[in-house]
Amino acid sequence: KMRLFLFLLLCHFSSPVKHSFSGIFTASTGTSNLPEVVAVALVNNIEASYCDSKIEKAIPKQDWMENLRDGEPEYWKEYAQDCAVNRLFFEEQFHILKRRLNQTTSVHILQKVIGCEWDDKTETSHGYQNYGFDGEDFLVFDLKTLTWIATKPQAVITKHYWDRQKTTNDLWKYYLTQVCVDWLKKHLKYGRISLMRTDLPSVSLLQKTPSSQVTCHATGFYPDRADLFWRKDGEELHEDVDKGEILPNHDGTFQMSVDLNISSIAAEDWKKYDCVFQMSDVKDDIITKLDKSVIRTNQKKPLDMTIPIISTIVISVILLGGYIFTKKRKKV
Ligand SMILES: *[C@@H]1O[C@H](CO)[C@@H](O)[C@H](O)[C@H]1NC(C)=O
Ligand SMILES: *[C@@H]1O[C@H](CO)[C@@H](O)[C@H](O)[C@H]1NC(C)=O
Repeated sequence: KMRLFLFLLLCHFSSPVKHSFSGIFTASTGTSNLPEVVAVALVNNIEASYCDSKIEKAIPKQDWMENLRDGEPEYWKEYAQDCAVNRLFFEEQFHILKRRLNQTTSVHILQKVIGCEWDDKTETSHGYQNYGFDGEDFLVFDLKTLTWIATKPQAVITKHYWDRQKTTNDLWKYYLTQVCVDWLKKHLKYGRISLMRTDLPSVSLLQKTPSSQVTCHATGFYPDRADLFWRKDGEELHEDVDKGEILPNHDGTFQMSVDLNISSIAAEDWKKYDCVFQMSDVKDDIITKLDKSVIRTNQKKPLDMTIPIISTIVISVILLGGYIFTKKRKKV
């Protein structure tokens, strides 16, 4: 099985005044039913637009992106063009790499993540550009030295070649520090109401059978600067818990769940446990006590816990963005 997209996405989230704009390009070969190159633009980790090598145009994925498209036709043209240009560049790189690595037959994935963050308060930005090949980090652009860092031995040839492309690297710097930030601000202008909102989730406790683990599931929150965890006597639990990643819902909100293994918890101790949903900048946590009477089970009524069906590579990319974001956040 392919390990898709397990390469580093440089997502840093800390304060609500931070916003991000990123493009994720995925080129694949050997998979049928998929366009060879798919590009999505994410604003604050929400899918803003989509394009692929079959449709050859950008498609707004949010209402406010339609406003942007209609309100700024010049900009939209540039935007759609950028998608196409990046696509061509990307496609070419993909073919070069496949040749260079002698991989012309089976399934391969090449990805690029390019983007920037903007901090409203400090008015500073941070740009990044990484490549991944077959699910692993491959090349990372160093914005300070304008050179490439090879994170795999197979990437060294490409690194040396790209390092010599000084004009291109200067352009990347310009893109990452200027263009990207301008675009992000443009998106924020149109999407502000939607992107600056706070949605609190509904939190429920779910259990398959009376002996299986209890899942605390929060869905419908926005933004994704949130945490969900189990506590015992007010202390966060790290053992006997299995924390899921933050995943996007189709409606522009997020969901997350954390499982608690209750097999060694005595009945009289249940009241010591609760599940806590925390959102940065929201004062009150949502606290749900571990209580048999509030747990919803399959036996009573069917649950709709299914994660949105992953029908395209794009969604997987977004999911993984969330996945890595969560993993990284945990370390903070
Ligand atoms: C690629 O294949 C050619 C011919 O089969 C071989 O000579 C070369 O060493 C291979 N290169 C790599 C990087 O495996
Ligand atoms: C729960 O904990 C018990 C005892 O520690 C263990 O045997 C069991 O495998 C765990 N269940 C899960 C789903 O992790």
